[in-house]
Amino acid sequence: MEDFIIAANLEDLDAESKYLVHKAKEASHHAYAPYSKFMVGAAILLGDGKVVTGCNQENAAYPSGMCAERVALFAAASQHPEQRIVKIAVVAKRKSAKEILPATCCGSCRQVMLEFEQRQEGAIKVVMLNSDHQWIVASSVQSLLPFSFSKAHLEQGNDLHHT
Ligand code: THU
Repeated sequence: MEDFIIAANLEDLDAESKYLVHKAKEASHHAYAPYSKFMVGAAILLGDGKVVTGCNQENAAYPSGMCAERVALFAAASQHPEQRIVKIAVVAKRKSAKEILPATCCGSCRQVMLEFEQRQEGAIKVVMLNSDHQWIVASSVQSLLPFSFSKAHLEQGNDLHHT
């Protein structure tokens, strides 16, 4: 499978991705983003077809805030721990504007998504709008984060002191 599908228009995406983008856009309306004014929504499709959403939650102590993707991922893991994550879509916009703005997942969210992918031993697709206003469907988080750090690095050499 190709690492990325690229579409010039939202209409060109598969129906499932379009639906998730729609749900992510809806979720962005509930973002709490008084500092950046950048309203982000994320929608996750679970294995059983349910959709879990999240939106960014900012804080006066800036680093205490959280991205939409991780809000949605942690909600999904808390509320539906037995379900695998099939796909996540992320959408950004300005308050009371209709237009979707480019926003590709930050490195921290990619790192978190990667561990979800590794835990469930199954790829998670990621849908987002890139800076060229193209819709990207990544076939896995791994493809978005080459040479990544993971649990495997922590575990290596653990038994050395026994020898
Ligand atoms: N943000 C997200 O929620 N997801 C992204 O993919 C990019 C950034 C949020 C974090 C912060 O509240 C605001 O957008 C500006 O960085």
